[in-house]
Amino acid sequence: MQWLGRNRGEVLTDDFAVSLHKRMFGDVWDWAGMFRKTGKNIGVDPLHIPVQLRTLMDDAQYWSQNKTYPELEAAARFHHWLVQIHPFPNGNGRHSLIMADTMLERVYGARPIDWAGGYDLQKMNDRRTTYIAALKAADAANLTPLMAFCNPNGGR
Ligand SMILES: Nc1ncnc2c1ncn2[C@@H]1O[C@H](COP(=O)(O)OP(=O)(O)OP(=O)(O)O)[C@@H](O)[C@H]1O
Ligand SMILES: [Mg+2]
Repeated sequence: MQWLGRNRGEVLTDDFAVSLHKRMFGDVWDWAGMFRKTGKNIGVDPLHIPVQLRTLMDDAQYWSQNKTYPELEAAARFHHWLVQIHPFPNGNGRHSLIMADTMLERVYGARPIDWAGGYDLQKMNDRRTTYIAALKAADAANLTPLMAFCNPNGGR
């Protein structure tokens, strides 16, 4: 968070995403900030991570420059797409939440999302169940539950 406060780099770049992951998890995992090399049940083929990540960032930049989506929808789409790529072996959920909030604050000048809503999103609880169900709906191209989840007081 201190690093984020100091950092003035472009948020919507793969460099920034990698640096943030390294800063978040570098003390815990020596591979923090390095892309996944093996398949998981979530995420694209590891071979496709660099290109997919670049495509996401380019699209997200385009969305902000052309006001393609309202800020909350851009954040929901960005978060979901990033966890769907699943660039790293672990920490993707937590990383993608902070990426989306940083985009909101620094690219859109908007307030971050209250993702956890007073719960611990890492633990099993109703909020987590709603969150995962919303991501699965987004996998099936239905963004409505994730939008509800992102909205202030939404999903509760
Ligand atoms: N069906 C799904 N589609 C897209 N993303 C999903 C799906 N199921 C789970 N996820 C995302 O993947 C994350 C789990 O991946 P990973 O373990 O890399 O991240 P994490 O930050 O360690 O999260 P967690 O603490 O939940 O384990 C979830 O928190 C969620 O954001
Ligand atoms: Mg995990």
